[in-house]
Amino acid sequence: IDHYRTTTLPVNIHTFSSVASTNDYAKQFSSANQVELPQVFLADTQTKGHGRLGRHFYSPSKGGIYMSILLPIHSRITIHSGLLTTGTAVSVVRALKQFFANADFRVKWVNDILVHNKKCGGILTETVTSLEDGSHESVVVGIGLNIDSDNFPAEIQQKAGAIVTKSSVDKNRIAASIIDNFFYMYQTYESGTFLKEYARLSETLGKRVEVVMGNQTVTGVADHFTHEGALVIQKDSGQTATISSGEVTKVYL
Ligand code: BTN
Repeated sequence: IDHYRTTTLPVNIHTFSSVASTNDYAKQFSSANQVELPQVFLADTQTKGHGRLGRHFYSPSKGGIYMSILLPIHSRITIHSGLLTTGTAVSVVRALKQFFANADFRVKWVNDILVHNKKCGGILTETVTSLEDGSHESVVVGIGLNIDSDNFPAEIQQKAGAIVTKSSVDKNRIAASIIDNFFYMYQTYESGTFLKEYARLSETLGKRVEVVMGNQTVTGVADHFTHEGALVIQKDSGQTATISSGEVTKVYL
């Protein structure tokens, strides 16, 4: 473990050459330990990286960043995971812009990071619940990014978006900047001050979208985000729908 001081908070950083999934590791760590400080789990590669809805997250050792941030939640404060996920997306883009100033980064509600219209990363926020009283014990924010597709096999290069095809940037420096930007945001995340920036980065707002939530589908124009990071859709019927979690499956240009 490295003891690392971000600009705002002391955190512990655990590094791995290979792990099944940093999110799963963080959740197990949280169940097995009395966690006081935030913990960051950073892996060079993952053998079972996963995304939302149980999807596989391709995690090769060359070219990607895979990390999970475990936040201990003291007392009974509620965690606003919609805000945490949108705030994380903004923090990740802020960090990436320092290294790749010319790339066009966007966010796709709620947890995707796009570069030049292709997904290059995702965020997976999971809460670890204590069984006794059902209150949240901790929250794990997983961040996965394809930085550089230079070493991706040809069939993956076509499907997966990556920021660059060849990078000379040390990925540890990018990871460090993501950690710094994350904790800077986390200090005041409940105020949602980053939501304006999230809206500016959004590729979803103002467009006709189709959102799938479980077995329900809502179609309409993506109008704005609420103070909790939920998406408000103006439906054709004239009614609005507020969606706090779901997936935008189609964006009509
Ligand atoms: C998504 O696209 O749905 C979210 C992808 C999240 C991937 C990251 S990589 C680090 C962490 N460990 C995992 O198994 N998943 C997250």
